[in-house]
Amino acid sequence: MNNKTKKIILTGDRPTGKLHLGHYVGSLKKRVELQDQYDCYFFLADYQVLGDQMGKLGMIKENIKEIVLDYLSVGIDPKKSTIFIQSQIPEIAELNLLFSMMVTLARVKRNPTVKDEMQSSGIKKASVGFVSYPISQAADILSVMANYVPVGKDQLPHIELTREIASNFNRQFGNVFPIPEAILSKTPMLVGLDGQKMSKSRNNAIFLSDSAKTVEEKVMKAITDPKKIRLGDKGHPKVCNIYKYYEAFFPEKAKEIKGMCESGKIGCVECKKQMARLLNEFLDPFRSKRDEFAKQDGLIESILEEGRKKTQEKTSKTLSLVKKAMGMDY
Ligand code: TRP
Repeated sequence: MNNKTKKIILTGDRPTGKLHLGHYVGSLKKRVELQDQYDCYFFLADYQVLGDQMGKLGMIKENIKEIVLDYLSVGIDPKKSTIFIQSQIPEIAELNLLFSMMVTLARVKRNPTVKDEMQSSGIKKASVGFVSYPISQAADILSVMANYVPVGKDQLPHIELTREIASNFNRQFGNVFPIPEAILSKTPMLVGLDGQKMSKSRNNAIFLSDSAKTVEEKVMKAITDPKKIRLGDKGHPKVCNIYKYYEAFFPEKAKEIKGMCESGKIGCVECKKQMARLLNEFLDPFRSKRDEFAKQDGLIESILEEGRKKTQEKTSKTLSLVKKAMGMDY
């Protein structure tokens, strides 16, 4: 199948930091599969970071480089997929402006994910750009005419808004946009090693780029079953964070560990040592690929430049269609 007949997929990441194991099981693994059947766009939503974290502006450039290396190391292939930076596609900003004229203020204020984010990050004075970022997300998606958008559950309100914008536009101005569908990640969200939500500030996440030594240190500090104190104590895998990692990464091994833990045949230290070794074996191929790519001078820059060009071929066509449909082709 050539790219003209393939359905289009778009999804992206905010460049707020390196990607971790949670990103891998929840999203990256699936992307690697999708790139063979679909025309995939994977992008870095740098404008979206500015909405609520203008203070991180200085780190975005480095984060973008790290994330592209993360992508390449897990097997996202720039020959199959297009990787680009949001702010380098002016058509997205233009489409965002047009869409923002078509969505009411009441509608953007009703978005549950935006409300949650404002609460959890303690934003008291949200910028207009922050509150309306789901409109810009619709512009990301519709600028390349995406049919499918792989996302986590928290993003569904944004896909719903995107569908509304697309169908309202089509009704008012003629059929221009596909009505995109979410591809919902089925894997449960991977918790951090302390059982809390993974976050950089809690230091409870294993990054794809962590060294073997760092992985071992982090795993050894993980919180297991608080009731299992001595080796011979009977454990409860259900409440153990390390067990969740066995289930997510090594389901076969998980069955064996479960029996040994519940019967008190294995202690937490040994169980963690085995996990660290397995994780390191799992991450080793990513590490060597990463090293290989990181060595090549100018590689990331050229991938992003190629991605920008390919994306703009698509988005400039979209903008012409949109303006023509709206009678703005003057
Ligand atoms: N909001 C997404 C996140 O925080 C990132 C994102 C921006 C995105 N634009 C998108 C995801 C368009 C899918 C489609 O993870």
